[in-house]
Amino acid sequence: MLAEFLSAALNQQAMLWRTSPAATELEEVALGWLRRLIGLPEAFEGVIYDTASISTLHALAAAREAAVPGVRTAGLAGRQDLSGVRVYCSEHAHSSVDKAVILLGLGQDALRRVPADVQFRMRADLLGAAIAEDRAAGLLPIAAVATVGSTSSTSVDPVEAVAEICARERIWLHVDAAYAGVAAMVPGYEWILQGAGRADSLVVNPHKWLFTPFDLSVLYCRRMDVLRQAFSLTPEYLKTSEGEAGVKNLMDTGIQLGRRFRALKLWMVLRHFGAEGLRSHLAEHMRLARTFAAWVDASDRYERVAPVPFSVVCFRLRAPAAGDAEHARILDCVNASGDVFLSHTKLDGRYVLRLAIGNINTTERHVARAWELLNSAAQQ
Ligand SMILES: Cc1ncc(COP(=O)(O)O)c(C=O)c1O
Repeated sequence: MLAEFLSAALNQQAMLWRTSPAATELEEVALGWLRRLIGLPEAFEGVIYDTASISTLHALAAAREAAVPGVRTAGLAGRQDLSGVRVYCSEHAHSSVDKAVILLGLGQDALRRVPADVQFRMRADLLGAAIAEDRAAGLLPIAAVATVGSTSSTSVDPVEAVAEICARERIWLHVDAAYAGVAAMVPGYEWILQGAGRADSLVVNPHKWLFTPFDLSVLYCRRMDVLRQAFSLTPEYLKTSEGEAGVKNLMDTGIQLGRRFRALKLWMVLRHFGAEGLRSHLAEHMRLARTFAAWVDASDRYERVAPVPFSVVCFRLRAPAAGDAEHARILDCVNASGDVFLSHTKLDGRYVLRLAIGNINTTERHVARAWELLNSAAQQ
């Protein structure tokens, strides 16, 4: 919050190195630290955007740039030389992937959602089959999105297997680790990003689960040159002599020209908590989620409906007759308490309640209160 005060007061513009050397270079420093923390190779260069939706949009713009000849100048409309383009993701991938293909002019039909297994993870075998089928139909696969921590159930797609397929098919791999990517810094959780080093890009959101005030999303890209190829454009009035001296001009890695000094708050978060502090908060959140999950598992009233790899628990009433309306009433009743705020989703077509832990002030007492409220609401 202090960083937000400061950056508002100083009103830095990090469009060019010249307009804010500090904002430009601090971004590089903070993103280098975060990259090391989550175990991504040095080949990944980072850039800060506002949200994961915008990060994914840029990743898929780069994928389009890499795969569609002349797209920057000729666009897509009316192209006789171009068959339909395809992007792949799991049926559980976030809606930001749909929005990206819509905005990139590929059309929502270009997004093929691949079925998941019983634990809500994308089935790599079906991804391979879908690509083969589309190629046989004359379509052009350009990218796949693997999710590490899907929105509804926090499932983890098999990134390694997906990376293998993308390498074989020579298509762009984007990893959406917006929520869960930060957990890779906790000892024992490195596996969640296994294979991500082979991805072309990865998004992780410190504003979701790294205690950074909204907004701050990071896109790491192993082929930032492609993103620059897609977006860099320097009219006379933006030319600076440093341009030739090899400094970074952040306007080159995205659609925005002007940009806020967001790096300051990430730098402060990293400096304030330190690696150990961040790890211990994340580990505690996961412990609290496991504790809550154990209460659900031992209960006669509720049952868990998904594994709990991180800090979200999905559950519903055991009573087979309980439908959407009963669950929605429970949710309203619990939230009306003002003590806790739960959300819902649908998994396998059924209404599911979700408890998510991500705030540094949340303790076991709050989780116990949620459980108490849930039980009394179910009784009512
Ligand atoms: C997996 C995943 N990706 C992307 C997003 C979009 O995040 P943002 O609000 O930063 O665009 C979300 C938000 O819930 C998400 O869960």
